[in-house]
Amino acid sequence: MRDNAPALEFRDVSMRYDEGRAVMHQVNFTLERGTFTYIRGRSGAGKSTLLKLAYHGLEPTAGHILVFGEDLRRLPRARLPQFRRNIGVVYQDFRLLGHLTALQNVAMPLHVAGVKSTQLRADVKELLDWVGLSDKASQLPVTLSGGEKQRLAIARAVITKPKLLLADEPTGNVDDKMAMKLMYLFEELHKMGTTILMVTHNDGLVERFPHPQLMLEDGYVHAV
Ligand SMILES: Nc1ncnc2c1ncn2[C@@H]1O[C@H](COP(=O)(O)OP(=O)(O)OP(=O)(O)O)[C@@H](O)[C@H]1O
Ligand SMILES: [Mg+2]
Repeated sequence: MRDNAPALEFRDVSMRYDEGRAVMHQVNFTLERGTFTYIRGRSGAGKSTLLKLAYHGLEPTAGHILVFGEDLRRLPRARLPQFRRNIGVVYQDFRLLGHLTALQNVAMPLHVAGVKSTQLRADVKELLDWVGLSDKASQLPVTLSGGEKQRLAIARAVITKPKLLLADEPTGNVDDKMAMKLMYLFEELHKMGTTILMVTHNDGLVERFPHPQLMLEDGYVHAV
């Protein structure tokens, strides 16, 4: 991690899945630290692909992706897990751990970071309460509704107060009131210095919480 380097840089990034058509053509953009940016674009435009590239869940066909100045492809494999701890991800398909309770799912990133169970319990409970899941703490994900799973996924992504938060339509499965509450949570994190990149289809939220936008269209990205 380089001091003062931007949070995220795409340099001439092109992406093509196997035999498919190109999803990205030499895309360039920079997210400075502490910024809050939306990703917009129609279904299939490549929004989730862009986030996957950013957390190194996919390798680009060409170009370079730098996270806090580090080219993740050049980072020694052994350092990748530790580096990833700076990044919180809310996946479009949640990816909760099915054999763990709601509370254990949220606590997992802290466990991995070596925080003792007795220390993390209060923080985890407070966050579960904030996302309205305190009464579901001991339930398994399979017993939760879509919106509840989404809120759980958000709690897990933010529990470590990541330096970079990548959120893929994090309010796509909840009602307007809960969406607003979750936005306040993201705004709070943003105020504390987290860089946020969030995919959304929700025009109302963008109007209410205005931030710069990156628009994906036909494999190109332009700022709005
Ligand atoms: N694993 C994959 N293999 C092949 N093609 C893929 C794969 N994942 C995505 N694609 C294709 O890449 C394109 C971009 O997909 P992506 O999931 O990034 O879109 P999106 O903008 O997130 O859409 P949505 O709003 O529906 O979530 C689509 O045409 C999709 O079919
Ligand atoms: Mg998507």
